[in-house]
Amino acid sequence: MTIVTGLTVRVPAKLNLQLAVGPPRPDGYHDLVTVFHAVSLFDEITAEAAGQDGVSVSGEGADRVPGNRDNLALRAVAALRAAVAPRTAGGVHITIAKRIPVAAGLAGGSADAAAALVACNELWGTGIGQPQLLEIAARVGSDVAFALLGGTAVGRGRGERLTPALAPATPYHWVLAFADGQLSTPEVYAVLDRLRAAESEGAAAATEPPGPSLDAALMSALRSGDARQLGRALSNDLQPAALSLYPALRKTLAAGLELGAFGALVSGSGPTCVFLAASADRALDLAASLSGAGVCRTVARATGPVPGATVVPVVR
Ligand code: C5P
Repeated sequence: MTIVTGLTVRVPAKLNLQLAVGPPRPDGYHDLVTVFHAVSLFDEITAEAAGQDGVSVSGEGADRVPGNRDNLALRAVAALRAAVAPRTAGGVHITIAKRIPVAAGLAGGSADAAAALVACNELWGTGIGQPQLLEIAARVGSDVAFALLGGTAVGRGRGERLTPALAPATPYHWVLAFADGQLSTPEVYAVLDRLRAAESEGAAAATEPPGPSLDAALMSALRSGDARQLGRALSNDLQPAALSLYPALRKTLAAGLELGAFGALVSGSGPTCVFLAASADRALDLAASLSGAGVCRTVARATGPVPGATVVPVVR
């Protein structure tokens, strides 16, 4: 009998191709309609049996990731342990190798949490299937369930109620421009609420704004695999708030469009900017030009959609 004492899971970053945000709810969250899209920028998480839970982090932005129980991956471990017999679920040490920048609008922390769930689920042999794992994920954070699922999916509620988008397997070619610094997601949502409140004060008769709805043009672009149409349909309600907190991003977005990107937007709550290119070659040119233009800290290329958190096979 083989006893598994450790394993590694690879997990992707996410973009929001559409992010439609409703008014704040009584619980402080906002109802969303969003189109999640997983891209080939991965963190790697290794979980090993240990005397007690612990975490160590290396790579991109590692010094800004909490090394204690506040770490989202350790919170995911605790949530899974609570859901299974704690007797059989021993301590684990989680090692995170980060390539997804921290607090960048790419759901890197949620990705690490999803990977920890998959790794510990295997390690402990819980027998828990994906539906229950998705429920546990949703309790850990709004974007964690999508990081399990991957691909392209519509998210509703806080973003945790997911429906996979049926689309051809066309790969899209993205360029990601990483910014200096970070944006806090709660702060970006709060600024959006303030901008909207100021707008409605100026309006003559305050009418109840319609709830967020799925963009038909974007879904049609995805169904036909038409990158040019998809580029035109990209949208993010959080973008004005992110731009008001980080005005230099306007220049980054404008530079990418001038350089021929099919579309440009701030990713999630930012500050990463993402650009859709016509092909792998065009993405390479765009990445080189953006990097040379001095409008961001660094660039990366990625394709999507890619699968969610996946166990990495051990090569012997
Ligand atoms: O769920 P998660 O911890 O990822 O969310 C981080 C923060 O983002 C929340 O505390 C909340 O301020 C904001 N948020 C929101 N509405 C959502 C998702 C997140 O207001 N649907």
